[in-house]
Amino acid sequence: MTAVLPAPSFLPRTLHGDRRRWHDGPTPVSLADLTSLTRQVAAEVVAGHHAVQIDAANRWSRRLHADPHLDVWLISWATEQAAELHDHGGSIGALTVVSGELTEWRWSAGQADDHLATAEEIASRGPGLRRRVLTAGSGAAFPLGHVHDVSNRRTEAAVSVHAYSPPLSAMSYYGVERGTLTRTRSELVEPGASPE
Ligand SMILES: [Fe+2]
Repeated sequence: MTAVLPAPSFLPRTLHGDRRRWHDGPTPVSLADLTSLTRQVAAEVVAGHHAVQIDAANRWSRRLHADPHLDVWLISWATEQAAELHDHGGSIGALTVVSGELTEWRWSAGQADDHLATAEEIASRGPGLRRRVLTAGSGAAFPLGHVHDVSNRRTEAAVSVHAYSPPLSAMSYYGVERGTLTRTRSELVEPGASPE
């Protein structure tokens, strides 16, 4: 059974125009709000409130909530399913892993960014891709400019909840050539189209 999400409790406050909260991006919703929301919805998925499907051929996703400020997605990852290296345009976002395990490769500009890295990531320094493993209950936040690739490297399927604010409207894709991050293309995301 698919339950309808209640309106996120933080929205009425932000809609009253507290612009001090607009520090993470062009949205009244903060990264902390999105992280909290994905954790809340992940708990709902664990409790069986949202049906999940696994599709070995194509990554499966379902939009659980949409309003002018944010959208929330439930995504499943069969083994070896992966996104491409991408950003989230003018949106910020967050994800929480519900079950299974996801691997994130995140582009780091280098040492100035290293204080954000986990012990696992810090093994390499300087500009480059940093790897972190996201297990059930853990997650990642995506500030503006966050470039990453997410994949399921395990045989067990993974399930995750993602939230974006403003709703995802454009994404750019990247490659890494000789240690340099290079944008390869940008695409508009149709409203309601599956995110990455
Ligand atoms: Fe992403």
